[in-house]
Amino acid sequence: MSEVRLNPHSKAISGVIQVPGDKSISHRAVILGSLAKGRTKVTHFLDGEDCMRTIHAFRALGVTIEKSDQTVLIQSDGFSSFIEPKEPLYFGNSGTTARLMLGILAGLPFFTTVYGDASLSKRPMNRVVSPLKQMGAYFDGRSEGDYLPISIRGGNLSPIKYTLPVKSAQVKSAILFAGLLTDGTTEVIEPTSTRDHTEIMLQAFGADVAKSDQHIKVTNKQQLTATDVFVPGDISSAAFFLVAAAIVPNSTLTLENVGLNKTRTGIIDVLKQMGGSVSINANEAIKTEPTGDITVDYSELTGITIGGDIIPRLIDELPIIALLATQAKGKTVIRDAGELRLKETDRIAAVVEGLSNLGARIEATEDGMIIHGQTPLKGGHVTSYDDHRIAMMAAISSLITKEDVVIDDTSSVAISYPGFFDDLNQVTS
Ligand code: S3P
Repeated sequence: MSEVRLNPHSKAISGVIQVPGDKSISHRAVILGSLAKGRTKVTHFLDGEDCMRTIHAFRALGVTIEKSDQTVLIQSDGFSSFIEPKEPLYFGNSGTTARLMLGILAGLPFFTTVYGDASLSKRPMNRVVSPLKQMGAYFDGRSEGDYLPISIRGGNLSPIKYTLPVKSAQVKSAILFAGLLTDGTTEVIEPTSTRDHTEIMLQAFGADVAKSDQHIKVTNKQQLTATDVFVPGDISSAAFFLVAAAIVPNSTLTLENVGLNKTRTGIIDVLKQMGGSVSINANEAIKTEPTGDITVDYSELTGITIGGDIIPRLIDELPIIALLATQAKGKTVIRDAGELRLKETDRIAAVVEGLSNLGARIEATEDGMIIHGQTPLKGGHVTSYDDHRIAMMAAISSLITKEDVVIDDTSSVAISYPGFFDDLNQVTS
């Protein structure tokens, strides 16, 4: 673990950045490429630690996967050729790998044990384990399978009709993947929309999937067909630089080729509602996921209330939105975001502690935060709690502090944005 000290930067930032591939879409490309028969080429894949966990998991199931930088080649004979893993599967820090793989392992006639790092071992799995048990898979683990390590004996699943009790795309996806491995039609009902990359990609791989209103149905043991995937830039990674440009006076930044799926663009709505200057140039020839270039200029911002259905559309961006809110005039209230307490760390506690140390006026609530702006930040120490998004939020704050920002450890940025500090240097030099 090595401390990182960032000096204040008192100049405008500018430039053009291409953020790495979308983490959610990269995971799903490996999953569907492995389930499908044939050769799948994934380009602009996120070369981060979390997505590597998903690759390793499918290699252990017998799939041939080659990776070179941001290109992944998957050669599979389909899920009927998968083999029982010889060793427990390690998911590291990756909640998406854990929850989505549990859905797949539930449908395979194998015994598997899965485990993760200290943070992942504290995150609740019952949200997927419970419906997957109802479909017929056997799970064991601490607290009746709520926490990793978990052992699974899968296969012989029955379809299910399931209303999501939590607003979670991971839960929805785990059930849809398990549904693919049943005889019949599985239906997931989501009262609030969550990211729909799984549904979009299932369709691209030829699955029988249908969506109407909030109901998603997937049918039967179909053979999926391999198809190439281009992964757009991750709006959750772009968010750090969108906010940087919005809060550093006289700045202007363009982020190219960013995924603009409307289940993910809550951060853009928030920037606009606060009075930010955001313009979007949509890219054409979009087959599956919409993409575009986003330009943000510095402007004066006003505090707003963020809650309700927008929360799943910006859940991962809330740490950096909290920093944004410290620079908006008036009060910003973030509510309905209790899920933040169940992420890589308790992000409400970590953000409030980190930004308070820097001089922000911010308080935690049970399901969010209240931030009073506009508050100049002085600098200070931030503990990242090994959470990539907290470390990057702290690094961006050094663009507006009067003194140094010291982060206990920034190695976690490799989870989702390995080139983050290079891009930060590029826009500040
Ligand atoms: C993800 C869904 C979200 C998000 C996570 C990635 C996904 O989690 O926070 O970073 O890829 O499905 P939840 O499903 O727990 O909301």
